[in-house]
Amino acid sequence: MTDQAPVAYSGPERVLSGVQPSGALHLGNYLGALVKFTKLQHEMDTFIFVADLHAITVWQEPARLADQVREITAAYLASGLDPEKATIFPQSAVPAHAELAWIFNCVARLGWLDRMTQFKEKSGKHKERSSVGLYTYPVLQAADILLYKATRVPVGDDQRQHLELTRDIAAKFNHDFGAEGYFPLPEALTQGPGSRIMSLRDGSAKMSKSDPSDNSRLNLLDEPDLIAQKIRKAKTDPEPLPETLDELKGRPEAENLIGIYAALDGRSAEQVLAEFAGQGFGAFKPKLADLAVARLGPVGDQMRRLMADPAEIDKVLARGAERAREAAAPTLAEVRRQVGFWGA
Ligand code: TYM
Repeated sequence: MTDQAPVAYSGPERVLSGVQPSGALHLGNYLGALVKFTKLQHEMDTFIFVADLHAITVWQEPARLADQVREITAAYLASGLDPEKATIFPQSAVPAHAELAWIFNCVARLGWLDRMTQFKEKSGKHKERSSVGLYTYPVLQAADILLYKATRVPVGDDQRQHLELTRDIAAKFNHDFGAEGYFPLPEALTQGPGSRIMSLRDGSAKMSKSDPSDNSRLNLLDEPDLIAQKIRKAKTDPEPLPETLDELKGRPEAENLIGIYAALDGRSAEQVLAEFAGQGFGAFKPKLADLAVARLGPVGDQMRRLMADPAEIDKVLARGAERAREAAAPTLAEVRRQVGFWGA
């Protein structure tokens, strides 16, 4: 062992991220992920996929899975991803993800995975009945990212630990195979007020696809009336809105609604408070409902239009899969050589 600092990665910047086709997309997915993808595609080479290999770590109805993939793709396109700029593809159409994941399963340590909080949350009380895939899920995520040598990964706050694991796997691979600087140590892009959207029913729980209460979230396919109704019913407290963020501490529901307003309006929470300070939720909620309908309504409408023409969506995915396979091939070939496989 030497004490030399690892050689830094010197390749080009690249963005990569994905969303699981495992339920209706909600405001958290939109603000934490989709909006960021759309912005970054103008700045860097961008790869955005539909994570169907991840989705099957819990049961997915086979007859519906391909349509769920198309629905996520429709959401990508409706929120402004341009297939001419970004490479959009289904994860399972690029077998190299699974192949690299296997190699990384042999690099990652059990102790690292034992620390993953999402596995603990998702497996609940019945860990022994979870799929093995659910346990090694973050290793596949590392493969998704490193296969394309992505350096920036726009995600919500809940993915931060998976990104740390990705960095650990990259560093250990580089070290073990004498390939310092081969894989980048990618950065999670989790800045901004939209990175942690909480449930509308409980300000201490994340807005999530798996929450049994549909009133806990705004879905991208909700009609305007339903959006307004869910915001009207959102849990709040009787106090008026304060002037500073500090005074919102201990009021998680109020903090969440201010954060949602800020993220939807492209402003900071401070700016939003400056506008509404002293007002109660009776005045604030209708304004938030109007803003949410104005922002989400057109996305839902566009998704419905796109989903009416699945063949067009399939064209986008097929073209993206082709490009992704081409981009992935050199990394996998090089990794096979580094590992020492026969014929590599
Ligand atoms: P998934 O499908 O659970 O969520 C998709 C994206 O939405 C973000 N998100 C949120 N952001 C803010 N507030 C919320 N309440 C909220 N809920 C979800 C997630 O952080 C995510 O960015 N493991 C990933 C998919 C994945 C991936 C990858 C991502 C697979 N491989 C490689 C990046 C790079 C996931 O389950 O996301």
